[in-house]
Amino acid sequence: MTAPSDPPADRMNILIGISGGIACYKVATLVSRLAQTGHDVTCAMTDSATRFVTPLTFETLSGNTVYTSLWQHGRYSYAQHIELARWADRVLVAPATANIIAKVTHGICDDLLSTILCAVPQSTPRFAAPAMNADMLANPAVQKNISALQDELGYTLIGPDSGWQACRTSGAGRMSEPDELYDTITK
Ligand SMILES: Cc1cc2nc3c(=O)[nH]c(=O)nc-3n(C[C@H](O)[C@H](O)[C@H](O)COP(=O)(O)O)c2cc1C
Repeated sequence: MTAPSDPPADRMNILIGISGGIACYKVATLVSRLAQTGHDVTCAMTDSATRFVTPLTFETLSGNTVYTSLWQHGRYSYAQHIELARWADRVLVAPATANIIAKVTHGICDDLLSTILCAVPQSTPRFAAPAMNADMLANPAVQKNISALQDELGYTLIGPDSGWQACRTSGAGRMSEPDELYDTITK
C-alpha cells in the first residue's frame, strides 16, 4: 500500500469554485490530482453545480468540507465567505458558467460562491475556466463579461477549448482538460 505523499514544498491552499455546467464531472479529476499531490483543496459549489455532481464526491476526493450555502458554518465561527476568501492562496472557478462570470464581473453576491469571489483579495491569483455551449459563448454580453473578467478583474483565463460539447455539436466553449487546469494553477 502506498502512503499519501508528503506535502510538497509549494503546498497551497486552493479554493475551487464550481458552478453549474455539465463539465463539473471533469473537476473531480482535478480535485483528486491536487489532493494526491499534497495540496489543501476546498470546494465551494453553486446550487446548480450540486445538480450535476454531488458535494459528497468533492468532499471525498478533497478530504475537506464542501461549502454550498452562505448560511452553513463548518470550520469557521463566522462569515465563512470571508474566511474562505482569505484562506485561499489560489482560486479557480471551474467550470465557469456564463452566469457566474456575469455575476463576478458585476459585483453580484447573491449566493455563496459569488460572495466568496467578491471577497477574494485582488492580490490572490485567480483563474477561471469558462465552459458553455458555443452559441452562449458567442453572445456579445458573455464575450464582454469574459473580457472584463480578464482585463478588469485580473483573472487568468484557462480556455475554453474547442471540441465536442454535451449539446452534441463541436464548437468553442468546451472546458479545458483537468491536466491543463492543474498545470496552470500550480505553476
Ligand atoms: C444540462 C445542463 C447543462 C448546462 N451546462 C451549462 C454550461 O456548460 N455552461 C453554462 O454556462 N451554463 C450551463 N447550464 C446552465 C446553467 O446551469 C444555468 O445558467 C445556471 O443558472 C447556472 O448557475 P450557477 O452559475 O449559479 O451555477 C446548463 C444547464 C443544464 C440544465
